[in-house]
Amino acid sequence: MQIRVVIGHPWEVAADLLVVPIVGELAFTGPLDELDRRSGGELRALATLGELRGKAYASVLAASGELPAGRLLVVGGGSADGFDRETARRQAAASIRRLAGRSAHTLAYWLDPVGAALGDVPAVAADMVVRGIVEGGFDPKTIYLADTDAAPPALDELLLVTADAGAAAAIAAAAERGRIIGEGSNTARRLANRAANDVSPQVLAEEARAIAEANGLTIDVIDEKRAAELGMGMFVAVGRGSDNPPRMIVMRSGPEGARDSQGRLIAMVGKGVCFDSGGISIKPSDRMEEMKMDKTGACTVIAAIATVARLAPGTPLLAIAPAVENMPGGHATRPGDIVKALNGLFVDITNTDAEGRLILGDAMTYAEQLGATHLVDVATLTGAVGRALGHLVTGAFATPDPWWGEVAAAAERAGERLWRLPLVQDYRSEMDSWTADMANSGSVEGSLVKSGLFLESFRTVPWAHLDIAGTSYYRKPFPFAARGANGTSLATLVELALGGAS
Ligand code: BES
Ligand code: MN
Ligand code: ZN
Repeated sequence: MQIRVVIGHPWEVAADLLVVPIVGELAFTGPLDELDRRSGGELRALATLGELRGKAYASVLAASGELPAGRLLVVGGGSADGFDRETARRQAAASIRRLAGRSAHTLAYWLDPVGAALGDVPAVAADMVVRGIVEGGFDPKTIYLADTDAAPPALDELLLVTADAGAAAAIAAAAERGRIIGEGSNTARRLANRAANDVSPQVLAEEARAIAEANGLTIDVIDEKRAAELGMGMFVAVGRGSDNPPRMIVMRSGPEGARDSQGRLIAMVGKGVCFDSGGISIKPSDRMEEMKMDKTGACTVIAAIATVARLAPGTPLLAIAPAVENMPGGHATRPGDIVKALNGLFVDITNTDAEGRLILGDAMTYAEQLGATHLVDVATLTGAVGRALGHLVTGAFATPDPWWGEVAAAAERAGERLWRLPLVQDYRSEMDSWTADMANSGSVEGSLVKSGLFLESFRTVPWAHLDIAGTSYYRKPFPFAARGANGTSLATLVELALGGAS
């Protein structure tokens, strides 16, 4: 897909289709009035029929009358008050998804209403709109099926239409950035949606290797034997029940030993449970098939480090993805087994279904051994976070406060919603074990906080944890996204790694 910035008015642009984004109440003033008049009153006619109400992500496909564009697609953005980067991105995604099963080679997107609604930042609008178009074009059916009749059209050309000639260069640069982040998000989604009989820990490692090679990253894949020798007792314990052995995937951007201009090395750690049956503490069968998505955090950090390498090659950065299958079996870890973690703590595995925190704990310690000065982990860690915050807000834990400030600012730039949860230290005693340093699960009261407290025991440097169990995949399609993995938190990680630069 070619992206071109077109300086001019929407009524001048020739394309198969022109997207007209609406923010707030529809008002026929200024350029929208002009667009309507030049079309021969097509928009007013629809408005009179009650078709154009501006409801978020609702869209109307209309004739373009006398305009050079072939058709019009009017897409709502909801109220002007609530319109933010996320809305802008979803509005764009909804527009390309609305065209599913149709043909369109050249699509023009009128950028100015979006830029104005975001506070006169045309570059941010371009970033979000292009990302939305790229992410909205993703169809999970194309992973396994060649027949893609109902997929959104693959565009040859995307025209970003603006009257602001002075912003053209900034818009073009931001558009490219949005495209690369959108492609990174789709890479994560394509991997995360794949089935467990297709993506074992070893296959995930091979996919990571291919991504590393394509993006100039180095990679080290630690097998179960070396993991045991290194002392990753928690990681090895989770992998024991499966015939598909675990792999600790370690990717690096920048030379070994390198630090960024602030003397930092950030490590992104992603939970890679290729299938979570619960192990001996086996899960109920209802919706167990969703547990093939329990590797989404790993897929996200693998795609995120590649995305950072594309945007800012050589940025010092680590991505660590502990990949395992959590299965019952004759070799599986039993409830009550006690293992020694890489950081030396003895852990009583009272619940084999609380496996994410075990593999992440060892991966975090390993990241610190490799010199990480800051940690951020991404994981489908608890069912509780989905019950608490739903599918639109990611739960986060972080310490100390300044690091949380940076993570929150990165999420803000990325247009993603995070909500910080408290690390209530008083609950720690409820994870006490009578034979080991700590248990991996406690009573259900405050279990979300306890998941954070457990992970906190495996960090000595600034750390943040994003629990994407509720947000990382949709159980049904939305106007703005397909069912399945949605790329949540990839952009936040990329923004965090870039630290507001580039
Ligand atoms: N992978 C699950 C969490 C999950 C649940 C993700 C639903 C997506 C949707 C995790 O490994 C798990 O089983 N967590 C347990 C923790 C408990 C045993 C302390 C949970 O949430 O019930
Ligand atoms: Mn589990
Ligand atoms: Zn899990």
